[in-house]
Amino acid sequence: MATITYQGLEVLYTRQQIAEKVIEMGARIARDLNDEKLVMVGVLKGAALFLADLARSINVDTTFDFVAVSSYGKGQRSSGAVKLIKDLDEPIEGKNVLIVEDILDTGLTLSYLRKVFLQQKPKTLRIAALLDKPSRRIEKIEADYVGFSIPNLFVIGYGMDYAERYRNLPDICLMAPDHPE
Ligand code: IMP
Ligand code: MG
Repeated sequence: MATITYQGLEVLYTRQQIAEKVIEMGARIARDLNDEKLVMVGVLKGAALFLADLARSINVDTTFDFVAVSSYGKGQRSSGAVKLIKDLDEPIEGKNVLIVEDILDTGLTLSYLRKVFLQQKPKTLRIAALLDKPSRRIEKIEADYVGFSIPNLFVIGYGMDYAERYRNLPDICLMAPDHPE
């Protein structure tokens, strides 16, 4: 495949590839719900764009909620500790909940959220992650819906950041380790 670049960055997945994948994921999620209602819980901020697109491809009665956690510092390395910075607005007891995350990396964030949410006794709790880096896993956790499985690369764009930048890139790009900031 020819290397595509965007603003001098190497593109890993184009907006077209992302759009097709998100539609596919949405169709599967809707099918698994059997016409029951859904609460989508986006993990801020990285999952905001993914949630916005995914929601529009899930053809069921859906509401949104958002949580914010801190696990990453400002750089590419995880600090290890996960903390809830913004909690759910509405109780999720008895509801079909879908956690929407940009990327499943070490698994620390999602295993923490899963534990906290399960205490509230949702009817179902599933996870949709656009990207998965299985080789980086520390906690044993898998997403129910994965867009793309990738090797240990640091990616930016389509919501994902490096030091809060690049979230607005329409494509998913590679952050080169030596990229000039
Ligand atoms: P985990 O707790 O290690 O699974 O980390 C999940 C979070 O780390 C994601 O929600 C992202 O915000 C962030 N993260 C992990 N890998 C990357 C990456 O390659 N680019 C941008 N953010 C990442
Ligand atoms: Mg995140």
